[in-house]
Amino acid sequence: MAIATSSPLVQLKHVSKSFGPVQVLKDVSLDMHRGEVLCLAGENGAGKSTLIKIMTGAISRDGGEYLIDGQNIGSPTPAQARELGVGVVYQELSLLPEVSVEENLLMGHLPTFKGIVNRKELRARAIRMLERVGLNRVDPAAYVSDLPLATRQMVEIAKVLGANARIVIFDEPTTSLSDEDAQHLLRLIQRIKTEEGVAILYVTHRLEEIFEIGDRITVLRDGQFITSGSTSQFTHDTLISSMVGRQIEALYPHRERKQFGKTLLSVQGLRLQGSPYPISFDVHAGEIVGLGGLVGAGRTETVCAIFGADPIDAGKVYVDGALLRPGSPAQAVNAGLGLLTEDRKVLGILADLSLRENVTIANLGAVSKLGVISSKKEHSLFQQLVPRLRLRYHSSEQTISSLSGGNQQKILFSRWLATRVKVLLLDEPTKGVDVGAKADIYQIIGDLVSQGLGVVVVSSYLPELLGICDRVIVLHDLGVTGEITAEEATEEAVLHLASSAPTSTNA
Ligand SMILES: Nc1ncnc2c1ncn2[C@@H]1O[C@H](COP(=O)(O)OP(=O)(O)OP(=O)(O)O)[C@@H](O)[C@H]1O
Ligand SMILES: [Mg+2]
Repeated sequence: MAIATSSPLVQLKHVSKSFGPVQVLKDVSLDMHRGEVLCLAGENGAGKSTLIKIMTGAISRDGGEYLIDGQNIGSPTPAQARELGVGVVYQELSLLPEVSVEENLLMGHLPTFKGIVNRKELRARAIRMLERVGLNRVDPAAYVSDLPLATRQMVEIAKVLGANARIVIFDEPTTSLSDEDAQHLLRLIQRIKTEEGVAILYVTHRLEEIFEIGDRITVLRDGQFITSGSTSQFTHDTLISSMVGRQIEALYPHRERKQFGKTLLSVQGLRLQGSPYPISFDVHAGEIVGLGGLVGAGRTETVCAIFGADPIDAGKVYVDGALLRPGSPAQAVNAGLGLLTEDRKVLGILADLSLRENVTIANLGAVSKLGVISSKKEHSLFQQLVPRLRLRYHSSEQTISSLSGGNQQKILFSRWLATRVKVLLLDEPTKGVDVGAKADIYQIIGDLVSQGLGVVVVSSYLPELLGICDRVIVLHDLGVTGEITAEEATEEAVLHLASSAPTSTNA
């Protein structure tokens, strides 16, 4: 329950911001109260992260006011914002991986005496900070790089709270977490809200989370304030339509009773490096096969191994009857295989290249002649693809890194639409993608399979996996624990298999 008091802790009034000629925030206002979770909702590119960066001092606004405790605070620098109690937990965490947990926690204010770090005091303070977020069992001396992602995020929160934050901002914190870790995080947020009276701003594309922890919701669309109200005033449907400005009939496309065609992908006895369990399955033309399981089950490793990007201990992969050479993604692409990776920062994005180049890179054959790329052809290919994705962009020549997260994902997705793939491997295809764009992407996947492609989808988001797949293969410990057809698939069934032991022979 919220213990909001009448005077807001934070007020943004009529905030505006442009990047060059593009206005991304227009007259946006919001209030945050002590002991309350405000969810900021909006499609990809709506301006949520930009507003957050204005609050943390990472960027400056063009107009409007920013008040904390009723005081006008001007345009704070990041240090001033921190001083005023504004803390932020970003998706790309700010901890230094090769440094211990305790030093990370107290970075910038290590307890020293005559220039020498007081190790005992450091340890004691770090333990207190960790206990505050329930991390009683984490070794303060451990390197951050040795901790699982979810724990790192908790350490980050400990650091923000330890710096006396009264206002804590979360920008899509659960995107990379398992269901269990996400639940744990939501419980922690509830606790710091009620027990410590912190004001929380929470951004997520998972609507279930908004209804679970939001006391109030403020909706942005196209950089503009749309509506604000207590969560109980919204339903899923009204929230979606105020976010996207249109009705979404069906999130998951209805496909006619499908006729599966020939086998397009055959994975035979594939053993991931260090795994005793062979993985075997086929994907047919017109079929969508899901890979389910918990974080660390080996889903990403499996698609990377099929693509030839990860080493394997044994096994064969055939694409449309042709045997792939292990360890050769280039040959896999030639044979008709495409991979959309989960981590766009590491494997996917060519950050400094334009949108146009990022789209056409996988299909240089279509836009080049004798090795010379025709930017005119590239341009027309880009123009063909973009309308299907409802992309929010300014120019095909802007760098991809200037797009919002979800729009970057759409660009990477369209890269494969530009090629002549037979089988697409999609690892978390809608990670960080808003609900309207999710519907678009599911529709595109549906269209692709009805044109005779085979698709493999890895997703941690169970409603999505069950919503689009014909069959779900569940992995655990780098092996297969079972297979469920769309008809018999329920969240419980997948979760049950996700914690069972793999079989050494999977049929
Ligand atoms: N540095 C920049 N230069 C140019 N345009 C930018 C820059 N940063 C953001 N934008 C643009 O501002 C708009 C708002 O982006 P923002 O990242 O705030 O969206 P968002 O609501 O957080 O979206 P998402 O849900 O995808 O994270 C987008 O159109 C984006 O392309
Ligand atoms: Mg964002």
